[in-house]
Amino acid sequence: MSGAVALSVAPQEAEVRIEPLGETIRLRPGEPLMRGAQRQGLSWPTICHGQAFCGQCWVRVTDSAEPLPEPDAKERNALRAVPSHLQGPTVRLACQLKPTGTITVERAQVSRPAPTPKPEQGQAE
Ligand code: FES
Repeated sequence: MSGAVALSVAPQEAEVRIEPLGETIRLRPGEPLMRGAQRQGLSWPTICHGQAFCGQCWVRVTDSAEPLPEPDAKERNALRAVPSHLQGPTVRLACQLKPTGTITVERAQVSRPAPTPKPEQGQAE
């Protein structure tokens, strides 16, 4: 018997503070930021809906408790669609970014739509 112990590291939940909206959301292990935000009712700028084509979902990471995973080839390619004056080492695509710790991001166009009022029941038309 070798005595070696195999350890598996489970993916971690992440906590993301979104500014200037001022909301904090939790992501499921391995969940991309944009998908998690949409699952929790936030509206996030996108054209390609997470396919890593449009660059519209860009976000600036302003703080991270842990190093972020490096962008893969798909994300690096789509980052070229982000306007050049916004590009930089802290800009990532929210549809591809899967943080594992606590981070803060900035994206002014992220919002929480107002709930749609339900029609009153029993109202005659
Ligand atoms: S949603 Fe289009 S690149 Fe992220």
